[in-house]
Amino acid sequence: MEANIPETTQRRIAVVTGANKGIGLEICRQLSAKGVKVLLTARDVERGTAAVKKLREEGASDVVFHQLDVADSASVASLANYIRAHFGRLDILINNAAVGGVELKPEALALLNQPQQVAFSTLFDMRLESHEKAEECININYYGTKRMCEALISLLWLSQSPKIVILSSEYGRLQHIPNENIRKEIANMNNLTEERLDGLVESFLNDFREEKHEENGWPARGSAYTVSKVALSAYTRILAKKYPTICINSVDPGFVKTDFNWNTGIRTVEEGAKGPVMLALLSDDCPSGLFYCQTEVSSFE
Ligand SMILES: NC(=O)c1ccc[n+]([C@@H]2O[C@H](COP(=O)([O-])OP(=O)(O)OC[C@H]3O[C@@H](n4cnc5c(N)ncnc54)[C@H](OP(=O)(O)O)[C@@H]3O)[C@@H](O)[C@H]2O)c1
Repeated sequence: MEANIPETTQRRIAVVTGANKGIGLEICRQLSAKGVKVLLTARDVERGTAAVKKLREEGASDVVFHQLDVADSASVASLANYIRAHFGRLDILINNAAVGGVELKPEALALLNQPQQVAFSTLFDMRLESHEKAEECININYYGTKRMCEALISLLWLSQSPKIVILSSEYGRLQHIPNENIRKEIANMNNLTEERLDGLVESFLNDFREEKHEENGWPARGSAYTVSKVALSAYTRILAKKYPTICINSVDPGFVKTDFNWNTGIRTVEEGAKGPVMLALLSDDCPSGLFYCQTEVSSFE
């Protein structure tokens, strides 16, 4: 019977966001090697098509490019329409795209231009966090992931084994939020709603704008990134409860050497992509709503 089924319905179809480089690109490489048809997406057409060309030259023939800026609802809708028209369903959504919400001070940039390797701890203290960067970070990391899930959920429903993987971080654990009441509220899955989680994220942004975030118990440094990733870890749990037939998990890929940390990470992209790929390819009866550290289940708290 299989011979009568169109080629696209036999292969699992995956979308990876922010896949022109780093862990996202490697996730595409590994998924393709496992026989998955991969939609490699990137906000920049040139960077995205160059990434696809690179994978094809390596032998990954079933990788196609589609433009996607997760901060832009029209771009997200356009991708959803493309998938609906060409494949009629989606099997795997990997929300990988993110920004750090910081920029480096000029003296740090000067250090990076020297031949010696600079430690992340040195750069950590040389980062600038502006309101604009914080808002951009929350919009891309948290709302961008939400936009993608909301736009593609109806296509994932049509899959026999739908999976959503959300790239979180070590900073996506609750312990990184100093305010105990906020931690308790986010941990309480019986009461936490999506609307309330959005409300907490908005109150962080308000506090950040008024420079009251530290006083009100939000992280003092790397604030927007940490809040975005904690919110994503919590969103994973909410979404998993709302859609019990979809397997939805978040994962910290480890400290991976990419542009994200100015290439100071200690793990390779191959190692970093392992956890997300494993979660994308779990069997049908897989656990959902969990936080993974690389390939192992871990505590969200
Ligand atoms: N590297 C680590 O140590 C580490 C640790 C923990 C978690 N993570 C998480 O792992 C994921 C991948 O990180 P990475 O290290 O591979 O970072 P990366 O090399 O900086 O790649 C980030 C990717 O996201 C894309 N992106 C940013 N904003 C976007 C938008 N609005 N729409 C679409 N794409 C967008 C970037 O595109 P451009 O090239 O156009 O900017 C880039 O392709 C992120 O979620 C990160 O938080 C990484």
